[in-house]
Amino acid sequence: MVRKAVIPAAGLGTRFLPATKASPKEMLPIIDTPTIQYVVQEAVDSGIEDILIISGRGKRAIEDHFDRNYELEERIKGKEDDVMYDEIRNLTNLANIHFIRQKDINGLGDAIYYARQHTGNEPFAVLLGDTIIDSVIPVTQQLIDIYEQYESSVIAVETVPRDKVSRYGIVGGDELSEKLMRLNQLIEKPTIVDAPSNLAIAGRYILTPGIYKALEKTPKGKGNELQLTDAMIELLKRESIYSQTFEGKRYDIGNKLDFIKTTIEYALKRKEFSSKVLAFMKEIIAQHEG
Ligand code: UTP
Repeated sequence: MVRKAVIPAAGLGTRFLPATKASPKEMLPIIDTPTIQYVVQEAVDSGIEDILIISGRGKRAIEDHFDRNYELEERIKGKEDDVMYDEIRNLTNLANIHFIRQKDINGLGDAIYYARQHTGNEPFAVLLGDTIIDSVIPVTQQLIDIYEQYESSVIAVETVPRDKVSRYGIVGGDELSEKLMRLNQLIEKPTIVDAPSNLAIAGRYILTPGIYKALEKTPKGKGNELQLTDAMIELLKRESIYSQTFEGKRYDIGNKLDFIKTTIEYALKRKEFSSKVLAFMKEIIAQHEG
């Protein structure tokens, strides 16, 4: 059973400067909800009871967001917006949320290694704190379903255009069904010629505890950081790893253009904004074309 999740959120967010100089990118709101709240909600909706957030310098706002704020609660209690009061109160009861600080920002693999005592001998989910996936069945749940069948690590992947494979971690292997693959290759940012497929690693994983030994054996890679993909290549020498093409749409808010697109799409999903935002967009488009 997968009961625990790890959410790495310690990164420097250099692609989103200057906003991320003193504020965590994981707290950038999509409309009115911080990105990491969507991520925590996905974990909770997938049956996760215990969440470890990998935090770091300048990330206090994340800890405060999932903590009580008595003064604010008192102020909005009994006012017209009871729904908001409930939402603010419930934020602290979503799951058991713990924090640990990554001392030096040494890469995603290093961030995951901080979770070893917390997850112990159990498999655990990893959800990147700057990536939202909108889906009918939460993606972490989709991966847990595969884990329960094979009791091995599972990576969520998505199809990307062939000419863009060099931007992603790409997987290759034997197709077991239309969406499921048993991996025999993982390559970080391959050339088009070297890419075994156009299936890219998408920010959600189920990992077995074997990943910690693999991380210990993995030398620092790109950017002199410990890369999770490199550790998974090491893990693949000893354990099976599967990939599942998830159902849903991924939004990486860590880069500015995708953040803008995400905000627009989420505004269009909201009843109170959709027609107004659409009318505004039509007006803007007409101005730019006119
Ligand atoms: P990214 O590589 O997208 O985040 O990591 P980054 O390094 O902050 O971004 P840029 O490239 O400088 O703009 C994906 C997730 O992993 C976390 C990040 O916080 C992000 O949520 N992360 C990354 C860590 O927790 N620790 C790290 O050392 C690196």
